[in-house]
Amino acid sequence: MTRFLQFAAGLAFAAVATMPVAVRAEDPTDVIDYRKLVMKSLGAQAAAMNATLQGKAPAENFATHAETLALVASQALVAFTPKIEGGDSKPEVWAKWDDFSKKMKEFQAATAEFAKLAQSGGAAAAQPKLQATLTCKGCHDAYRKPRG
Ligand code: HEC
Repeated sequence: MTRFLQFAAGLAFAAVATMPVAVRAEDPTDVIDYRKLVMKSLGAQAAAMNATLQGKAPAENFATHAETLALVASQALVAFTPKIEGGDSKPEVWAKWDDFSKKMKEFQAATAEFAKLAQSGGAAAAQPKLQATLTCKGCHDAYRKPRG
């Protein structure tokens, strides 16, 4: 092979190797599984954070859980963007997308604010804002099917 061909083959390989990054989930099951995984991560971080506040887990991890919660929250809306009904989502998620996405963006902003406060002022500064930050139930009551 000439050097040029080797170079071109290398480029082609690089293009194929990076392709999966651009592939979007189309399978409805994948879409539903993914948003459940994101929500479960939120649940795990919220529970871990509460444990640090209740003295059941290392207090020094409080701010990191707050930060991780905010990071996961920032990824939540895009997990619901494909209009795939099912899972425990009510059809209203997409029928009232403006309201749903507003709620999710507000939740994202609140968790980011909370994480900042946790980092600068620790649990003492952040804890009073905890209830107002975790608007999980408000959204679930409106957009998640009740579990039997
Ligand atoms: C703006 C709306 C919204 C917010 C805010 C929200 N959720 Fe959810 N959540 C949903 C919807 C919708 C579902 C149903 C997803 C599905 O099954 O299709 C869900 C599902 C879940 C599930 C079940 C996942 C599964 O495996 O079935 C858990 C756990 C969860 N959320 C935790 C949380 C926690 C904890 C918070 C707050 C820290 C939160 N959620 C905030 C809308 C929201």
